[in-house]
Amino acid sequence: MNIKKIFVIGAGAMGAGIAQTGITKGFDVVLNDIDMAFVERAKANMEKTFTKNVEKGKMTEEDKAAALGRLTLTTDYALAADCDLVVEAIFENYDAKQNIFKALEEIVREDCILATNTSSLSVTRIGSVLKNPARFIGLHFFNPVPVMKLLEIVVGLRTSDELVETAKEIGIALGKTPVVAKDNPGFIVNRCLVPYVNEGINILAEGVACPEDIDTGLKLGANHPMGPLELGDLIGLDIIL
Ligand code: CAA
Repeated sequence: MNIKKIFVIGAGAMGAGIAQTGITKGFDVVLNDIDMAFVERAKANMEKTFTKNVEKGKMTEEDKAAALGRLTLTTDYALAADCDLVVEAIFENYDAKQNIFKALEEIVREDCILATNTSSLSVTRIGSVLKNPARFIGLHFFNPVPVMKLLEIVVGLRTSDELVETAKEIGIALGKTPVVAKDNPGFIVNRCLVPYVNEGINILAEGVACPEDIDTGLKLGANHPMGPLELGDLIGLDIIL
């Protein structure tokens, strides 16, 4: 694997989490969004998290400074020109994602990997606008990214076999355990998790139980870290929909 520099598009919870994980693991990361205020806010949150980690003895001041030194903030796609990997983590909309990748394909090197963090849209369809869809793949991270140990690799119909192997190596280098799924709605994890959240909502809608008892029920009765309603709030109900 020859991935050293990552361009992350979108500085929301997922993009910022991917960027934080990248700089913590020694990658150079360029974090992009449409407004400098968004990327600056993401960096400020990372600084706070790193400060807490220093206080907890999980990282040194030197580690913190080095990690932040590997982060570049930008609103300009031109900085993707020397990146080895692009990870897009914007809102779930085909047109918006496809427009980004069409623009990026004109800027990045031919060997640059293009990836989407979509949580359930078709990787094949997003990548269909590319001249070379073989270099396109789903790299699906989980919220909160620095904490969650999984990377779900989503293989589009035209993704190359070689890229799937490289994606596994990227996941391991980022401290994650990779799993591989064919491109289908919800992949592996959300195909199970979204019905879990939906069913919590149905239980509430039918007046079977109050929100607190629904969440307590699943936490204590099935050892889930979060009940379905709190998990829905963490993910965001717009994303669940
Ligand atoms: N960013 C960075 N670190 C965080 C964090 C965040 N947002 N939230 C928690 N942490 C860290 C804490 O600092 C803490 O670290 P230490 O052990 O060093 O102290 C550690 O995680 C544990 O946190 P807490 O003690 O505060 O709380 P907790 O033990 O209740 O864990 C949780 C919080 C990790 C979020 C846990 O509740 C959990 O695992 N929940 C389920 C999350 C989940 O299912 N995520 C997947 C959502 S689906 C998705 O993302 C995919 C999609 O496409 C929709």
